[in-house]
Amino acid sequence: MNATPNLNAIVLAAGLGTRMKSSKAKVLHQAGGQALVEHVLDAASKSVSPTSITVIVGHQAEQVQSLLSPRGCSFVTQTEQRGTGHAVAICREQASHSGLTLILYGDCPLLTADTISRLVAAQQAGSSAATLITTLLDQPTGYGRILRAEDGSVLAIVEEKAASAEQKKINEINSGIYCVDSALLWRHIDEITPNPASGEIYLTDLVEILRAAGHTVAALVLQDPNEILGINQRLELAEADRILRSRKTRQLMLDGVTIFQPETVAIDPHVTIGQDTVIGPMTQILGRSTIGSDCHIGAGSVIRDSKIATGVSIGEYCFVGTSVIESGAQIGPFSRLRQDNHVEAGAHIGNFVELKKTHFGAGAKAMHLAYLGDTSVGAGANIGAGTITCNYDGVQKHQTVIGDFAFVGSNSTLVAPVTIETRSYVAAGSVITDTVPTDALALGRSKQTNKPGWLTRKRAKS
Ligand code: UD1
Ligand code: CA
Repeated sequence: MNATPNLNAIVLAAGLGTRMKSSKAKVLHQAGGQALVEHVLDAASKSVSPTSITVIVGHQAEQVQSLLSPRGCSFVTQTEQRGTGHAVAICREQASHSGLTLILYGDCPLLTADTISRLVAAQQAGSSAATLITTLLDQPTGYGRILRAEDGSVLAIVEEKAASAEQKKINEINSGIYCVDSALLWRHIDEITPNPASGEIYLTDLVEILRAAGHTVAALVLQDPNEILGINQRLELAEADRILRSRKTRQLMLDGVTIFQPETVAIDPHVTIGQDTVIGPMTQILGRSTIGSDCHIGAGSVIRDSKIATGVSIGEYCFVGTSVIESGAQIGPFSRLRQDNHVEAGAHIGNFVELKKTHFGAGAKAMHLAYLGDTSVGAGANIGAGTITCNYDGVQKHQTVIGDFAFVGSNSTLVAPVTIETRSYVAAGSVITDTVPTDALALGRSKQTNKPGWLTRKRAKS
């Protein structure tokens, strides 16, 4: 990060967002893998030191604060949402009154760090009291419209509700993103009077106040209107999600990752993926996952908060949650690595195998239909189809330990706590309740008995 000296930011995030029709505060809604306000903080933090960022919280203040406080920003609570101007005004005590102040909206998640630094540079280069970001929209409905003076500077912002039929035709809209001279901001902010129609204090009125005081207001017109999409309802939330997802997949492709049908893929912002990894369609790579180079992630797989080394193959339709997979391992198709597993190098986990809190040794195999929970599997062990660890007795969970190169025959039931020692064999269909010693064969099933001619006698009777 290259924090610009003497640059502060105020992020407005107090509103409920009535049009979302939700009990959850708007800025907490997720798009592109994190809450709307997190995207704003990510972008702002590239130019502003987190300790110079103040977030205005109101609705679900505690949740917003606990989500953002690890970043080191500070908070001001706006108990009653009396408008965007009021939200800024209540930061007077907390805010720095020198240098420049960025004002950002917590519901504009698409704004890029690059645009923020362009806005700051534009304000620094000119002699205006403030610079605001505008753009041209084919359908400007809902946004504040920009009125221009004859010299091209900004005359005023007129809100949709107050706009005349003529003004509603103006395509240039207010993004709600401003860079203001801090001294002028604090000198004039309290001059904004409540809007006669709504009673709210509109920050947008500051433009006319600054002009009346003899200053000019400039605008930076953005070519890409997507960047300032303000989320007011869920259709816009979905659109923001689509754009954020496509930005992430695009960046990964530019960095050397192959992604097929990227429009169907969801990769969270903080995920990292190495070169020459191939990502299939309909995959989701979420949270803090990291994937090394030369991996293959099959169609429909979901990977959450997991660490995947290099050369790992994950087949189609797998789920991997909070797990570590070492290099060259092969997973799936149709495997479920539910949580907290560690799969060592070169191991194979096949279809319809579920792992939970399981350490799976290097080169070990469980190719079909198994449940391994609270288990440690040694290197080179073979787990037959249908093996089930009975790890839960209805009250507590218990451990199963399977030694290196042990062979567990198909359809075995391992009643935990139990140990199958190194290089031992469990015969197919066994129910194992006691330790199987090294090099032993355990037969935990009834001996087969044949009844010769049984069917002939049965037929004769009927
Ligand atoms: C605002 C602008 C409008 C602009 C649009 C861009 C005003 C008066 N209007 O309208 O010109 O085109 O954004 O998206 O500023 N908030 C608070 N406290 C409040 C009120 C709002 O924190 O008391 C926060 C909201 O949580 C939200 C942001 O400020 O994150 C914007 O508020 P919102 O009500 O969505 O403003 P718009 O009506 O969209
Ligand atoms: Ca809005």
